Amino acid sequence: MDPEPWSEKDFGSIVVFLRNQIGISLELHRMGLLQARLRSRLQSKGFGSFAQFHDQVLKPDPTGWGTQLLIDLSTVNHTSFFREPAHFTFLIEQVSAWLKEAPTSPVRIWSAGCSSGQEPYSMAMALAEALPHHGLSKVEIWGSDLSLEMLKVAAGAIYTTRDVQGVSPARLRRFFLLGRGPREGSFRIVPEIRDLVKFRHLDLRNSIWPVPTDFHVVFCRNVSIYFSDDERLALLDRLSQHLRPNGWLVMGNGEILPYVPSMLRKHSPSIFQKEG
Ligand SMILES: C[S@@+](CC[C@H](N)C(=O)[O-])C[C@H]1O[C@@H](n2cnc3c(N)ncnc32)[C@H](O)[C@@H]1O
Repeated sequence: MDPEPWSEKDFGSIVVFLRNQIGISLELHRMGLLQARLRSRLQSKGFGSFAQFHDQVLKPDPTGWGTQLLIDLSTVNHTSFFREPAHFTFLIEQVSAWLKEAPTSPVRIWSAGCSSGQEPYSMAMALAEALPHHGLSKVEIWGSDLSLEMLKVAAGAIYTTRDVQGVSPARLRRFFLLGRGPREGSFRIVPEIRDLVKFRHLDLRNSIWPVPTDFHVVFCRNVSIYFSDDERLALLDRLSQHLRPNGWLVMGNGEILPYVPSMLRKHSPSIFQKEG
């Protein structure tokens, strides 16, 4: 007999999949949190039970979107290089347009909630590929996070083979140095890219944000999913105050915003522009 939908027993196949296929074993309270989050995501997608998700999504495609969803929901610091790639194409277009309009003025970009640094370094790599040297020298990239542990990794700029799995061979050759000796198997970001990013410790729920207030582009992706609705509203208001007129706010593709502050215009489901 099938277990009752959404029960502890029904969730069992997910626990086993997490442990055996993804290598994640969560503490009990984190597991409870994951169960609740996953249930709400799956219900909104029309699934009737955890077992259905396991049998129809995880089992036939163990590296597909179901696995990605499980990783995202179970690890708060999860990130990757060039995650949601269309956002980096958008970034290049906007920065190029600004530099054309005002070639000698700085262009400021912020990765708010940058985790272990993959997001701001991806911004830097994308811009290094697209811009001439004098254009790149005008770009300032800021990365901030709540987690000091993550910021330490970010500032160290050394990644594992697993971290760079989705990075193209051409980018690996151009932007990473292969570790030698005791660092064998590691990938260090080249100084040209590493030095473009300034890191700051910053709690987006606090009122003090030690960063500029005239950013051209702010990425705040996959951070507000851990906030309550009220906190999310306050966050969007504050972020828009840190954008210059016509600046852009980029959120994660899967984030649902309860409302859009009056200062922002929706450009696409995850991209907003501050009124000019
Ligand atoms: C899932 S990661 C997203 C990383 C990156 N933005 C991305 O999309 O790949 C979420 C990050 O938000 C950070 N974060 C969560 N709450 C925060 C807060 N109140 N202030 C600043 N950062 C926060 C976490 O420490 C974590 O590193």
